Amino acid sequence: MAACPWVLLLFIAAGVVLQARAQPDSKGFISIDCGLPGKTGYEDDNTKISYVPDAGFIDAGTNHNISAEYVTPSMGKHWYDVRSFDGTRNCYTLRSLVPGVKYIIRAMFKYGNYDGLDRPPVFDLYIGVNYWHTVNISGPGAAILQEAMVVVPDDFVQVCLVNTGTGTPFISSLDLRPLHRTHYPQVTAVQGLALTTRLNFGPTDDTLIVRYPDDPHDRIWYPMVDTTRWTEISTTQKVQSRDNDFFEAPSAVLQTAIRPQNASHNLEFTWSSEPTPMDPSPGYIVILHFAELQILPGNAVRQLNVVLNDKPWYTTGFTTEYLYDAVAYNTQPFQYSIRYNLYVEASANATLPPFINAMEVFSVFPTTNIGSDSQDVSAITAIRAKYHVRNNWMGDPCVPNAMAWDRLACSYAIGRRPRITSVNLSSSGLNGDISSSFANLKAVQYLDLSNNNLMGSIPDALSQLPLLTVLDLSGNQLSGSIPSGLLKRIQDGSLNVKYGNNQNLCTNGDACELHAKKNSKLALYIAVPAVLLVVIVLVTILIIRLLKRKNQGSMDNTITPQNETSTSHTTADDAGDDSSLRRLESRRFTYKELKIITNNFQRVLGQGGFGYVYSGILEDGTQVAVKKRSHSSKQGVKEFLAEAQILTRIHHMNLVSMIGYCMDGEYMALVYEYMSEGTLQEHIEGIAVGPCVGLEYLHKGCNPPLIHRDVKATNILLNAKLEARIADFGLSKAFNTNDPHVSTNTLVGTPGYVDPEYQATMKPTTKSDVYSFGVVLLELVTGKPAILREPEPINIIRWARQRLGQGNIEAVVDGRMRGDYDVNSVWKVADIALKCTAHSSIQRPTMTDVVVQLHECIELENGRAVGDCANMGFYTGSSNNDPNMSYDAYTTDQSSIISTNSIAFDTEHNLRREPTMPTGPAAR
Ligand SMILES: *[C@@H]1O[C@H](CO)[C@@H](O)[C@H](O)[C@H]1NC(C)=O
Ligand SMILES: *[C@@H]1O[C@H](CO)[C@@H](O)[C@H](O)[C@H]1NC(C)=O
Ligand SMILES: *[C@@H]1O[C@H](CO)[C@@H](O)[C@H](O)[C@H]1NC(C)=O
Ligand SMILES: *[C@@H]1O[C@H](CO)[C@@H](O)[C@H](O)[C@H]1NC(C)=O
Ligand SMILES: *[C@@H]1O[C@H](CO)[C@@H](O)[C@H](O)[C@H]1NC(C)=O
Repeated sequence: MAACPWVLLLFIAAGVVLQARAQPDSKGFISIDCGLPGKTGYEDDNTKISYVPDAGFIDAGTNHNISAEYVTPSMGKHWYDVRSFDGTRNCYTLRSLVPGVKYIIRAMFKYGNYDGLDRPPVFDLYIGVNYWHTVNISGPGAAILQEAMVVVPDDFVQVCLVNTGTGTPFISSLDLRPLHRTHYPQVTAVQGLALTTRLNFGPTDDTLIVRYPDDPHDRIWYPMVDTTRWTEISTTQKVQSRDNDFFEAPSAVLQTAIRPQNASHNLEFTWSSEPTPMDPSPGYIVILHFAELQILPGNAVRQLNVVLNDKPWYTTGFTTEYLYDAVAYNTQPFQYSIRYNLYVEASANATLPPFINAMEVFSVFPTTNIGSDSQDVSAITAIRAKYHVRNNWMGDPCVPNAMAWDRLACSYAIGRRPRITSVNLSSSGLNGDISSSFANLKAVQYLDLSNNNLMGSIPDALSQLPLLTVLDLSGNQLSGSIPSGLLKRIQDGSLNVKYGNNQNLCTNGDACELHAKKNSKLALYIAVPAVLLVVIVLVTILIIRLLKRKNQGSMDNTITPQNETSTSHTTADDAGDDSSLRRLESRRFTYKELKIITNNFQRVLGQGGFGYVYSGILEDGTQVAVKKRSHSSKQGVKEFLAEAQILTRIHHMNLVSMIGYCMDGEYMALVYEYMSEGTLQEHIEGIAVGPCVGLEYLHKGCNPPLIHRDVKATNILLNAKLEARIADFGLSKAFNTNDPHVSTNTLVGTPGYVDPEYQATMKPTTKSDVYSFGVVLLELVTGKPAILREPEPINIIRWARQRLGQGNIEAVVDGRMRGDYDVNSVWKVADIALKCTAHSSIQRPTMTDVVVQLHECIELENGRAVGDCANMGFYTGSSNNDPNMSYDAYTTDQSSIISTNSIAFDTEHNLRREPTMPTGPAAR
């Protein structure tokens, strides 16, 4: 078992992010036992996969146990219970996914007469807004599995059960498994694959299902044995996939094969096409695996032909290699009417019979329907949750049209995501205040919240809805006054606001002014301590910053703004205009408390121009860093203030956070979370994603976006769990194209990290941070500083580009990794780094793109066992060009077809499968 420190570190970083965002486990798996009551899950005895109850994924439906007569001791626990649903559409929401990544989605159904009606239902399944399959339960004891592979466009996916008037939908379990980007190239943004069958031929134990951990993607390979017609062949040797294999069948599957008992016969497989309500003639994808398991005598020839419906798939025949998987597959779906006949036969020159190791058959289904505007979806979802609206509020609010949510109206334009244009929640029993999410429905024209029990004030943000023409708030218990923005729109006639019948609403001018005055006084009370806070925050930040530089004086060569004076400002001046601090929720410490926390300022962590940073421990055991402002400090109060302001405005798990402050007489200090593992500089091999997500948050989650302007390895701190956070906001700027402050004639940043375009134009953009982050990534990969000194000074980007340009990844990777890394994931990170450091900012990705790509890299790694690192072959991207394998033989004919997609299997024998293909595979 190879150790993979580099990949492991990435795992740690990614794991942290995933945990914080909830659902998928460390492998990227989601495994739900639908209908399981309570909050605790369990580990499946056979697979050791952890199943969780479904309560966190859906808020509708009822739990039932299947009838005792259908329970057998050997069947998996997830079959014991089901969740059933009233209403037309009910959806499970699987969150924390990576947009653009391919996933396996697998739903299982065992009716088991749970409702005592003895009437198995028929209902439809959707993935998001796209029809997937019709589930037709053949009998009360039947166990049905449906599996699809799709590209998930958003960071969540919904799996919906739709009542078609033929019985109550129910479900037993639901799984999600990530795939590699390169896997199954037939799966695209507009096309999914629905599994018809996945067979492992000739296993020595014919009840044995191969899945996780043998298959790191947890595909389920069913045993297929027929000793009357086939002879089994097997090996105990490991069978390999080729480097650029798109399908990566596990060795456990490839180690066994079948050949016809009568050597002059063919291997023949047949199945029927099955029309769906959406597609009368679905296309099929067939994937065949052939790996030679025997050492052939010198003059023996094994050469195969594949024939589908009497047309040769390969005209020349192909040979196979000892212990290597050769895969035959089509990329354009085959489309025949009614029936498929597939032969594997020996070619004319062959002296040995044909054989086959494994086979997958899929039908294709379109995933071309697009869901509603994602901002609208998150807004209306938040509204649904806040007011507990049920009705039919499930799945996408507007799509499909026939299942659009009650009380909403949507606009549908070709090629655009539908928008919500009207919300009528009149007389819906709404309680509480008016949700701020209403102001995020940017396309809404009509908003009726009349005759509810809404309280609190009217959010002025509603006046910012550009298309809103009618706002009905009458008949509630709203208070306060009509906000000025709304008043303006009432006056200019662009908005009709109804607010009658709200007893506490102040519509009388004088009374309202009184109110306002009270409020501003209150604001003052809050503002004064806030001012002090700024100062403290300032101090701490600089201390931490200096602490970071403790061991590397030479790195401390920030280009200081030439025009900005670095003399100290009086605190009152600087803090005076800072309203953002009013919302600060930090704890205030007394000097005495700080003394206790730091054990009388005993342990110094570092020192900088602002004073010392001390180690401390809070009452609850939390380790903190206390940055104490020294009286003699003269340096950069302005920077300090800037960081203070920003830290109070932003909160994110990948940004260093402030715990509190001390403002006690002459003493000022800031208390930070303690990043025990020092700086990224000291752990250069590993952590990329955390800071990346942090930066993305600054760019996207903050409004206006923030540009950090000094991203570098020494500004990324690590805590004991190696969670990485961005620190030091002293040079940050809010980015707003209309903001004249952004373009200053002073260049800030650190040599080696500064965006050349920024250097040329003096205008920083969010892409300047992307550039700097690219440099950090290169430092991660190479273990070298941003500017290499030996043999002559050279910028790390040029240095890496020269070597990577020649395809020489080894020359770039940190020698300390000693080959214990996965070349392809390193390539990928290096590739992202080079894109980030493109000379022209237009060519650089956004921080969001980078987050997605790094996550992709990591999530995909998560799908594999860590111990298997040595075998983590990503694809090299070059095509195989094996002359013996001509892929994608022929064009489709467009005649109409039929098939059955259900894989039925018998839970009695540990998922042993029943024949899937109507006639069953047969040898001739
Ligand atoms: C299902 O059976 C378990 C025990 O086997 C029981 O605790 C649970 O209450 C049952 N659930 C329902 C919905 O009947
Ligand atoms: C379900 O399957 C049965 C048996 O194959 C068939 O007779 C029936 O028409 C199907 N029901 C629907 C609604 O498709
Ligand atoms: C094998 O099949 C061929 C052609 O179908 C037949 O002539 C021959 O008798 C078979 N051999 C055996 C041993 O069954
Ligand atoms: C079969 O053998 C003949 C004669 O050796 C050769 O010309 C032909 O190319 C071979 N066919 C294949 C498919 O290899
Ligand atoms: C809004 O809903 C209420 C109650 O359902 C109804 O009386 C009213 O006419 C609706 N408004 C519009 C514009 O449809």
